Amino acid sequence: MRTKPQEAPVSLFSAAAGPGAKKTRIYFEDRPLDVPEGISVASALLISGVRAFRSTPVSGAPRAPYCMMGVCFECLVEIDGRPGRQSCLTPVRDGMVIKRQEGASELKHPGRED
Ligand code: FES
Repeated sequence: MRTKPQEAPVSLFSAAAGPGAKKTRIYFEDRPLDVPEGISVASALLISGVRAFRSTPVSGAPRAPYCMMGVCFECLVEIDGRPGRQSCLTPVRDGMVIKRQEGASELKHPGRED
């Protein structure tokens, strides 16, 4: 029985974050970061060395992404002034301003001013 020769493994991340990847500029805590286009905010911050995305409301302990698929909510950050954003589900956009989320945030209902 003949088998096909094995192809070289392809990294899931090589197309997005390889040496030829186009970059976009985001800001984290007022620091400019040039990151690959099309990746999530969580991925962009992690490859930039960020390890604390938010702090817990009770103890203030630092937290960082865990599941990277929208389940655990450990990756919450403030994006463009809006708190409680899941960074693992949000793609980077040029000029995006991201802040660490400290403790509990007030989540406002869209369209309400209270
Ligand atoms: S890392 Fe789990 S919801 Fe974002």
